[in-house]
Amino acid sequence: MNFLFLGDIMGRAGRNIVVEKLPEIIKKYQINFVIANGENSAGGYGITEAICEDLFAVGVDVITSGNHIWDQKETMDFIAKEKRLLRPWNYGEGTPGSGFEIYEKNNFKIGVINLMGNVYMKKNTDSVFPFIENKMRQIKLKKDLDFLLVDIHAEITSEKQAMGYFLDGRATLVIGTHTHTPTLDFRILEHGTAYQTDAGMCGDYNSIIGMDSDVALKRFFTQERTERLTPASGEATISGVRVVGDINTGLAKEIEPIIIGGRLTKKFI
Ligand SMILES: [Fe+2]
Repeated sequence: MNFLFLGDIMGRAGRNIVVEKLPEIIKKYQINFVIANGENSAGGYGITEAICEDLFAVGVDVITSGNHIWDQKETMDFIAKEKRLLRPWNYGEGTPGSGFEIYEKNNFKIGVINLMGNVYMKKNTDSVFPFIENKMRQIKLKKDLDFLLVDIHAEITSEKQAMGYFLDGRATLVIGTHTHTPTLDFRILEHGTAYQTDAGMCGDYNSIIGMDSDVALKRFFTQERTERLTPASGEATISGVRVVGDINTGLAKEIEPIIIGGRLTKKFI
């Protein structure tokens, strides 16, 4: 079973390249299931129902998110009925939407978990390690589901690596999002879980984490906030990983980065 996980889709440039290239990528790599982090797809801030539909239409099966999930007002309303859009699971009991669902595809039960880290991230979220430790008591590969893919949306590398280590042998893939920078430390951990610290960004890398560089740079000099940060709109790159899941164990057999187009292309493809 072949999975594709795409890093944070950033603004129009990111959306456009995913819409344009995903069908070819699915075909070329014989992908069976696609997950994409979409929390920056609406002008860098959140996601709309229409954008979800555009992404589903080109082959995305599940959209994950993170700290920007509520940036668009409408999201709180439609997330309750749209099970293919996840928000961080550790957002507290009673938050609209869910952070874990099981999807059926090719006769397999595929679980997707969306978590958010605690270090340098939004306050008032449940502490992610005890939270997932507790939840994993009910989620066993090959018993409750065939495959399990986990997006840990977090700022720091150690927290993401710790999550990989913690879930090693219990998930098909643990992958980080949020930093918009592909770490390329892709590997299969000791007990069979595929891992990369950050999937990178689908967007224009001629930018500061996807935002227009001039405005973003000014914010490191002064507290002036007169200009709005807007996503860079040049040629975009698709960044993510392809993972081959073993149908007998639910663990990973292979992981490789998929980086196509724009500024990053020449070095990796
Ligand atoms: Fe984020």
